[in-house]
Amino acid sequence: MAKTSKASPQPAEAKPANTPADIKTLAICASYGNQPSELLEILHDVQHALGHVPESTLPVIANALNLSRAEVHGVVTFYHDFKRAPGGQHTIKVCRAEACQSMGTDHLCRHAEKTLKTKMGGTSADGKVSLEQVFCLGNCSLSPAVLVGDKLYGKVDTKRFDEIVATLGKETAQ
Ligand code: FES
Repeated sequence: MAKTSKASPQPAEAKPANTPADIKTLAICASYGNQPSELLEILHDVQHALGHVPESTLPVIANALNLSRAEVHGVVTFYHDFKRAPGGQHTIKVCRAEACQSMGTDHLCRHAEKTLKTKMGGTSADGKVSLEQVFCLGNCSLSPAVLVGDKLYGKVDTKRFDEIVATLGKETAQ
C-alpha cells in the first residue's frame, strides 16, 4: 500500500551537491548545525563566500535545513542585502539617507542608473560596475556622498559621478 505524504512544507527536491558552490554551501549549513533558525546567518555566509547567493544554492540550503525552496527563496528576495547575481568589478554605493536626499541624491541616482543602464542593486551590462543604494555613509556634511571600494567621495553631482566612473577602469589598469 502506498504511503501518504505529510502536510508539512515540502523540502526541495534532493539534488547531489557536486559543484564547488554546493559543497561550500553545505559546509556553511553544517557549521550552523543545519538549523533552519540560522537561515539568515547561513545566507550571509554564502554571500560572503561566493560573492552572491546563486540560485543553484537555494535547493541545497533548503535540503540541508529541511525547508521548502519557496521558504528560502522568500527570505533571499525579502532582504535587499542579498545579491542574486555576481557583482561588477567595482561597486558604487550612493547614499540615499536624509542629508543626501536634501542635497539631490535622488537626481544623482537617476543619473547613475541612466548612465550605467542598470537599476539600483544591478550591474552594468559590461559587468564593470554594480550600483547600490546605502543609507548614510557618515559623510553627511559633504552630501551627496558616494563610496567606491573604500574611497569616499563628497558633494557628488552628476558631473563628478561621471568623472568617478571614468576613473574606475584607469585605476584598475595602474
Ligand atoms: S546622509 Fe548621506 S552620508 Fe549621511
